[in-house]
Amino acid sequence: MPVTLEIAPGRAADAQVIAEMSRRLVEVGLPWTWTPGRVARHLQHPESLVLTARASGAGSPILAGFAIMHFGDDIAHLNLLAVDSRWQRRGLGRRLVEWLEQSAITAGTFSLCLEVRARNPVALLFYRELGFEETGRVPRYYSGREDALRLAKDLRHPLARAWPDAGINADGTDRVPGPAPSAAQWLALHFPKDGSHA
Ligand SMILES: CC(C)(COP(=O)(O)OP(=O)(O)OC[C@H]1O[C@@H](n2cnc3c(N)ncnc32)[C@H](O)[C@@H]1OP(=O)(O)O)[C@@H](O)C(=O)NCCC(=O)NCCS
Repeated sequence: MPVTLEIAPGRAADAQVIAEMSRRLVEVGLPWTWTPGRVARHLQHPESLVLTARASGAGSPILAGFAIMHFGDDIAHLNLLAVDSRWQRRGLGRRLVEWLEQSAITAGTFSLCLEVRARNPVALLFYRELGFEETGRVPRYYSGREDALRLAKDLRHPLARAWPDAGINADGTDRVPGPAPSAAQWLALHFPKDGSHA
């Protein structure tokens, strides 16, 4: 029987399974902080999204993966993500993150950040493959024991990212953008006629 995967918001009854998967797959060797009660609070929180991937084939559907994301005003924070060992390397983690990215963009939030255990090479490879960049290290982030790496992804369209913006110069002074280029100037700069892109 073919297996089908459904990605959809989680239900109250998923809290226990998600918490157990977190303990088994994410919090290995650390105190269990993503307890069923904490997951249940995120399931109910208006600014959190708990996403599940359910596999069905022969027998009843099983929870193959999940992700928990919190939406801030400007930044969305990916709190937790895991795919059951039997379902890894089939593109499920990628699909969950892409689903979350689209929902953040729809909500008008164009920055996605997360922390990951510094000693989790698989997760680091995974997030780098998905376009996340390292922005810092947080010493003893996990229960005062283990460092985290902070990663972020700019969800804006590449053309919007290239648009001149106000900011701070390297010497600390305010960078005042000049007048925005006309669309024709901007296109000429980024898409020169000889075909070599800036
Ligand atoms: C990290 C994790 C969520 C990835 O989920 P997944 O469904 O297996 O990932 P995908 O199949 O979508 O992989 C996407 C890409 O990431 C990279 N990747 C994923 N797992 C990898 C591995 N074990 N080794 C090397 N690269 C890997 C690959 O580039 C992969 O693309 P490819 O399969 O076409 O080569 C999963 O391994 C997991 O749940 N790990 C335990 C919990 C965890 O560490 N969570 C993240 C921190 S909260």
